[in-house]
Amino acid sequence: MSVTIHDLRAYKAAGKRFVMLTAYDFPTAQILDQAGVPVLLVGDSLAQGALGYESTLPVTMEEMLHHTRAVARGARNALVVGDMPFLSYQTSLEEGIRNAGRFLKEGGAHAVKIEGPQVELTHKLVDLGIPVMAHVGLTPQSVHELGGYKVQGRGETAARIQDQAHALEKAGAFAIVLEAVPAELGADITGNLQIPTIGIGAGPGCDAQVLVINDLLGLTEKPPKLAKAYANLRRAIADAVRAFAEDVENGTFPDEGHSYH
Ligand code: KIV
Repeated sequence: MSVTIHDLRAYKAAGKRFVMLTAYDFPTAQILDQAGVPVLLVGDSLAQGALGYESTLPVTMEEMLHHTRAVARGARNALVVGDMPFLSYQTSLEEGIRNAGRFLKEGGAHAVKIEGPQVELTHKLVDLGIPVMAHVGLTPQSVHELGGYKVQGRGETAARIQDQAHALEKAGAFAIVLEAVPAELGADITGNLQIPTIGIGAGPGCDAQVLVINDLLGLTEKPPKLAKAYANLRRAIADAVRAFAEDVENGTFPDEGHSYH
């Protein structure tokens, strides 16, 4: 590993914007790492992005660890962050510590990400040497409580998100994800924290931006408004597969160059 949590703080101090991307497997991690992405998040969006679940709620610790190990094997330079799945930390401090530790001990991650204002747990983990990335605003594990994937922090609730961000910084979080909050709030929180903010649907004023890799590559069938596709791999894959099938059907594959004698 060569990117550390201290580098991210230094990027903020120097006004250097950076990116984080999700990764769920070895080849993707290797490509992103070699492309210079400093932070790879094994997000619990693994649930929809790689496992076909409808939300992040069903994904388990074992599934998260399995994919974190694959990503850690592909990352030579990037900081690898494992996302604590639903009910791996909410039941008790002890459970949260044990599961966070598993991401480092068994998954090869360098840090964990935790949704919501888990101030006490963050404090404890940092004390134990486990770096924590916080996550406030739209926290998808609370989708049912929130009544859907809705923008958070409009109107009076902005102050609550501000307070959560400050409390998590004070507890020792090394960075904080701001998801689906008004751009003005994203910029405001960013200006008031020493740690970097990593926005997703939180406007251009954040210190860094994160996207789900499937959304960036155009693999997601119905991407959310906050996502931007920089490629259309859904089409590229379908085209490649059809071209292969056509070659086989008309007898042009395998040709001499792909045959043994
Ligand atoms: O799981 C995930 O992909 C995330 C990002 C959207 C920040 O939490």
